[in-house]
Amino acid sequence: MSIKIEVKDLIKIYGSEPRKALSLLRQGYSREEILEMTGQMVGLGGISFEVSEGEIFVLIGLSGSGKSTALRCINGLIRLTSGSVVVDGHHIEDMSDKELRRFRGENMAMVFQHFAVLPNRTVLDNVAFGLEIKSIPLEERYRRATEALRMVKLETWRDRYPDELSGGMKQRVGLARALVMNTSILLMDEPFSALDALIRTDMEDELLNLQQEIRKTIIFVTHDLDEALHLGDRIAVMRDGRIEQIGTAEEILSNPANEYVSKFLRKVDVSKVLTAGDVARRPEEILRLTEGPRSAKLKMDTVGVDYLFVTDRSQKLKGIVTMDDILQLIAQGSRSITDAIKEVNTIDKMATLQDVYPLLANVRGVVAVLDEKGRFLGMLTRADVISRLAERGSNATATA
Ligand SMILES: Nc1ncnc2c1ncn2[C@@H]1O[C@H](COP(=O)(O)OP(=O)(O)O)[C@@H](O)[C@H]1O
Ligand SMILES: [Mg+2]
Repeated sequence: MSIKIEVKDLIKIYGSEPRKALSLLRQGYSREEILEMTGQMVGLGGISFEVSEGEIFVLIGLSGSGKSTALRCINGLIRLTSGSVVVDGHHIEDMSDKELRRFRGENMAMVFQHFAVLPNRTVLDNVAFGLEIKSIPLEERYRRATEALRMVKLETWRDRYPDELSGGMKQRVGLARALVMNTSILLMDEPFSALDALIRTDMEDELLNLQQEIRKTIIFVTHDLDEALHLGDRIAVMRDGRIEQIGTAEEILSNPANEYVSKFLRKVDVSKVLTAGDVARRPEEILRLTEGPRSAKLKMDTVGVDYLFVTDRSQKLKGIVTMDDILQLIAQGSRSITDAIKEVNTIDKMATLQDVYPLLANVRGVVAVLDEKGRFLGMLTRADVISRLAERGSNATATA
């Protein structure tokens, strides 16, 4: 995959005299020491990472660790002190203010935790606002804003006013406002942090679903570990203006780089991190809807199971058939399996193992995992789930 954003040795020093601070930083003085000696604040002490096209890259860290500073240096809202930021091959630090404004407008949109909704404008007009400023004709403005509202599932609210919206809906408006600009990069600074836990998880799921469609390059800032692990293709753990570790959730959980990172991870509940899609396994045999009872029996005998999942030509799950029912069909001389198909519990691949667990309380203790189009991805049994949780649980204790 191609590199979309490249951040190299990025340093940001806040204050009017960054030179002295920069030199002390290079000599290895800490943020506190530099603040004391020069009165200058080291926002970023030299960070490097690359973000691939279509990736969700998460920056996580406590308050003050430099996450927002990093985002603002990337889109040029603030000027970096040293190092480079390259977006689509263009050096942000070399651009004039005017070039930068234009480049940002065309390539990067930002979503904030708190943003100014315009109270006297409808939802549609709020979303279209950024296009209005760019003097885009009314018809196109509304067409694009309507499309953005569809993406965030607010199309039926287009003519309402902001004070009628819940907190979650307002954040959707914020997201729609960014989407409407049609940029290939989205920078999201704690967009869901003010929301209740439940709504927040919903928003995260919807962002992941939406990302399947829009495939933007996203840098997502959060201080919430569950959120980072849920959303990030890769995660950078930040502390005091530096990056402690970069990796996938799996890599960071299984191999934390240092004591600081492991401490951070102690708070995670693994059952909320692993998704059904992560753990699902493909059965050795699947039955097609067009196959008959004898074929079903042969497959079950071959693999040594007493039930099979049935899918149609487009991989959609129809249900399961059991050996008992198939034997009965054979005895009756039936040629179709249709009458033997039974319902089975299903779950979306993005659901967490925590969500899977209650669904396993059926006779066979099995659940089918489906992708966003309802296609059959694989199965999970109670044993699969328990063994994965046990494995991860012991990992977490070993490293903590
Ligand atoms: N405009 C500013 N002037 C001086 N210091 C700042 C400014 N903005 C941020 N900082 C400092 O830089 C550090 C990093 O801040 P920030 O990037 O906002 O962290 P985060 O987003 O992770 O909470 C903090 O110590 C903060 O106080
Ligand atoms: Mg911040």
